[in-house]
Amino acid sequence: MKKSLTYLKPYSKTVAAGLVLKFLGSVAELFLPQLLRRIIDDVAANDALSMDQKLKYTLIYGGVMLFCAAVALLGNIFANRLTVISSGKMTHDLRYDLFEKTSHLSSRQVDSVGLPSLISRLTSDSYYVNQMVARTLRLGVRAPILILGGMLLAFLEDTVLACVLLACVPIVGLTVFLITRQGVPVYFSVQKKQDEMVQKIQENVTGVKVIRALDKSAFEVQKFDGTVQELAATEFRANKIMSLSNPLATLTLNLGLVALIVVGAFRANSAGTVLEFLQFFVIILNALIALTKIFVVISRGSASAARIERVLEMDTEEKVLSLPEGDKSQAIVFENVSFSYNGKEDHLKDVSFSLKRGQTLGVIGATGSGKSTLVNLLLHFYDVNAGRILVDGKDVRSYPSRDLLEKFGVVFQSDFLMAASIRDNVDFGRGLSDEQLLRALENAQATQFVTEHGGLDFCLTQKANNLSGGQKQRLLVARALAGEPEILVLDDCSSALDYKTDAALRFALKTQYKDATKVIVAQRVSSIRHADLILVLSDGKVIGAGDHETLVSSCEEYAEIFKTQMGTVEEGEA
Ligand SMILES: Nc1ncnc2c1ncn2[C@@H]1O[C@H](COP(=O)(O)OP(=O)(O)O)[C@@H](O)[C@H]1O
Ligand SMILES: [Mg+2]
Repeated sequence: MKKSLTYLKPYSKTVAAGLVLKFLGSVAELFLPQLLRRIIDDVAANDALSMDQKLKYTLIYGGVMLFCAAVALLGNIFANRLTVISSGKMTHDLRYDLFEKTSHLSSRQVDSVGLPSLISRLTSDSYYVNQMVARTLRLGVRAPILILGGMLLAFLEDTVLACVLLACVPIVGLTVFLITRQGVPVYFSVQKKQDEMVQKIQENVTGVKVIRALDKSAFEVQKFDGTVQELAATEFRANKIMSLSNPLATLTLNLGLVALIVVGAFRANSAGTVLEFLQFFVIILNALIALTKIFVVISRGSASAARIERVLEMDTEEKVLSLPEGDKSQAIVFENVSFSYNGKEDHLKDVSFSLKRGQTLGVIGATGSGKSTLVNLLLHFYDVNAGRILVDGKDVRSYPSRDLLEKFGVVFQSDFLMAASIRDNVDFGRGLSDEQLLRALENAQATQFVTEHGGLDFCLTQKANNLSGGQKQRLLVARALAGEPEILVLDDCSSALDYKTDAALRFALKTQYKDATKVIVAQRVSSIRHADLILVLSDGKVIGAGDHETLVSSCEEYAEIFKTQMGTVEEGEA
C-alpha cells in the first residue's frame, strides 16, 4: 500500500489544507454542547436574570452557536471538496502510471496476470483505492478529533459523567468492530462473485451471436441465473452480518443515554450538564461508528492497492543482449527454435528455416499447430527457449524492440480496428501522407469499398461493425502495407476474402512490394502456393518444408489439404 500512498505526495498541500479545515470544523462542532449547557443553566434557569437579560444572553449564545455550527458545516464542506480533489488527482496519476506500465508489459507478463484481471485493476481496483483515500481523509481526522476532543471536554466538565461515557465507548466500539470484522471477508467474496458475474456478462455479450446461432440462450440464461443467485446469497449474508451493527450500536447508545440520565439524576447534575453530555455521547458514538466503517474501506482498498502495486512493480526494463551475429544475406533465419508458453509442453519444436530478402514464406497447418506462435517469436513478443531467430543477421534479442518492430508491417490473427476514421485506422499515428494511404488501400484491394463509403474520412463504429469481415481484413492489410515495411507478416488475414480478391492481393504484394520479405500464414493452399518456401506445421513441429510442387509430392498432409481444397480453389479462381 505504501507505493500507492506516495501518489498523494504531490497534493500534500491540498491534503494539508483539507485536514486543517476538517480540524477547525470538528473543533467548532465540539463547542456546541457546552454552549447549549450555558443557555440552559446560566441563562434560562438563572433566576437572578431579568426577562430582558435572559432574552439578550440567549440571543448572544444562540448567535455564537450558530456561528460554530456554520464553521463546522462550511469547514466540513470545503474540506470534503479538497479531499475529493486530492484523492481524484491521485487516482488519476495512479491509473495513468498503471496504464503506461500495462502497455509496456511483455507478453509473458500479460499472460501471468491475465487480461481481464489487468482491466479490473485499471477500473475497479483503482476505484477502491480512491475510495479508501477519500474516506480516510474525510473521516480519518474528524472522527479521532471528535472522539478524543469530546472525551477531553467531558472530563474537564464532570469526571463522573465522563466515566459513564468512557465506559460505553469501548462497548459500542467493540460491537461495531467485531461485526465489521466478520462482515469484511464476506464482502470480499461478494467482490469475487461480482468479478465472476462481470466475466459471464462479458462472455455472453461478446458471444451473443454464437449463443443464439447454437440455440444456447436458455442454457446461458440458466447459467447466468446461477451466478447471480450465488452473488445475491453472498451479498445477503454480508448485509445480514453488517445490518446487526446499527441496531446493536443504537441499543448500546440508548442504554448509555439512560445510564447518563440516571447518574445525572442521582448526582443532581443540572439539566444543562445532562443535556450537554447527551450531545457529547451522540457525537462521540457516531464518530466511532464512522471510524469502524473506514476499517471496511481500508481493508478493501489495501487489497486493491496490493493488486495494483504488483503490476507497477513488474520489471519492464528492456533487456537488449549482445549476441553473436549470423548470416547477413538472409532476411529471416530460424535456427532450431523451440518454445513453450507454460514450460510444460513444447508449442514449437526444433523449427529451422531461412528466407532471403524479398522472398515469401507460407505457413500452413491446423488450428493450434503453432502458426501464430511462430509470428509471436519472430516479433520477439516472447523469448525462445532454445535455438535462435535472426532478422537481417542479428538475433532478435539483440535489437531494441523499437528498432526490430520498425522493420515489420503486421496483421495479427484477431487484429482490431478502432472506432475512428479510415484515415486514422490506416495511418495509426504515423503521420503518413494521403498518397501513401491511398496506395496502401489500393494494393490491399480496399479502394472500391472505401470510395463507396465516402473516402478516408469515413468513420468506423466500435470494432468496425459497420464493415464486413473481408472489408476489415483489407483495411488491416492496408495498415500493414502503408509503412512500406521491410518484412510483411500476414497472420490468417485472407480467410474472409473471396478467392478473386485474395488472388488480386497476392498479385499486388508480389509486384508492388517486391523487396519486402513476406510471411503469410493461411488456411488455404491457394493463398501460399506461390510462396518460395512453405512450412507445414503440426503440433509445433515442421512436418513438411519446400515449395508447392515439392510438398505435393513429398508431404502427405499437405497433399491431403491441397486435394480437399482443390475443387473450391478452381471454382473460385475460374
Ligand atoms: N498466450 C498463450 N498462453 C498459453 N498457450 C498458448 C498461448 N497462445 C497460444 N497458446 C497455445 O499454443 C498452441 C499454438 O497456438 P497458435 O500458435 O495460436 O496456433 P495457430 O496459430 O496455429 O492456430 C495452442 O495449443 C495454444 O493453445
Ligand atoms: Mg493462429
